[in-house]
Amino acid sequence: MEKKYTVLDLFCGCGGLSKGFEMAGYQILLGVDFNEPALRTYAHNHHGSRTLCGDLSASETFDAIDGILDGKRIDVIIGGPPCQGFSLTGTRQFDDERNKLYLAMIETVRRYKPQAFLIENVPGMATLYKGEVRNEIVRRFTEMGYNVSSQILCSADYGVPQIRKRLVFIGLLNSEESFQFPEPYLKPEEYVTCEQAISDLPSLEHTLGDDVSSYESGPLTEYQKLMRGACEILHNHKSIDHKQFVKDTIALVPDGGNYKDLPEGVGESRKFNMAWTRYASNKPSRTIDTGHRNNFHYKWNRCPTVRESARLQSFPDDFVFLGNKGQQDRQVGNAVPCLMAKAIGVQLHKYLKNEE
Ligand SMILES: C[S@@+](CC[C@H](N)C(=O)[O-])C[C@H]1O[C@@H](n2cnc3c(N)ncnc32)[C@H](O)[C@@H]1O
Repeated sequence: MEKKYTVLDLFCGCGGLSKGFEMAGYQILLGVDFNEPALRTYAHNHHGSRTLCGDLSASETFDAIDGILDGKRIDVIIGGPPCQGFSLTGTRQFDDERNKLYLAMIETVRRYKPQAFLIENVPGMATLYKGEVRNEIVRRFTEMGYNVSSQILCSADYGVPQIRKRLVFIGLLNSEESFQFPEPYLKPEEYVTCEQAISDLPSLEHTLGDDVSSYESGPLTEYQKLMRGACEILHNHKSIDHKQFVKDTIALVPDGGNYKDLPEGVGESRKFNMAWTRYASNKPSRTIDTGHRNNFHYKWNRCPTVRESARLQSFPDDFVFLGNKGQQDRQVGNAVPCLMAKAIGVQLHKYLKNEE
């Protein structure tokens, strides 16, 4: 049997990144995060991986990781330190504690000397403080013997029905060769659209607020077939019971439209850039957020369900989200799309060596 490279996932959340690496044939030994509901989801969906609930800015967490790994070799460390501090839309405080969390990546890489590491963050980080943050990351890991490459990737290029851009760093230990990021699998005109991604899921027109647990049709597209796999139960497909005025307002917005399409005097309470946006059925979705309720289904007069958002993030249908609705929305919105993570994992495989 082919060797499975071992992985440690830091800031693992519910495990989108881990899921993609698992799909690419890696064995995830441990996921670490301090958010308990996300870790419950992680544990439910990653059988064979351990979880640790710990604060990655505290040194005792690294000792706890040591204890769990118990001398096992780690081939790859992956992680998405929280990006709010780096975000172009959030605060730009360089001293923000959240910015320092990449030190957790440095500390674990120093301890375990994996063959490779991956750090994922928002694209804005590439140019933040005139590129200082990015340069500092490259400098620190280069000093530890890693050949570091970074690139902004777009998830839709790898079959995800969503335009989500992420800055990804890959470091290869003692390597002459730099990592070449995977070429796009699809051209923009071939991108998977919202309709292709979710049109088979029940409309919930008459079941708002109820749980719907069965599919009402077979898969209608290749993407839907892929996401369903052998799954027969429809999980996490429950709509918010919107107030009547929300339903009436969104009913006035056409497929792909937004607040600019509303008649004068309607929907005035939300008038910012993203307000009252309906996904466009014939395009990938915009970046899935953590549940701000500004985005609506391309056809039905409601926000997407957790399952619909999960589909747009390329989580397979048998990946079940636990916790309350708000927690589930955050888990989905925070995740790295599984198919993008898989594409990176598949490419990285080519650079790893079986050291046993
Ligand atoms: C962007 S999400 C990671 C998503 C994940 N990579 C995925 O693909 O699903 C960032 C995660 O960092 C966690 N986090 C933030 N600060 C932390 C800290 N000090 N210690 C541990 N985890 C932390 C959050 O709970 C959140 O789940």
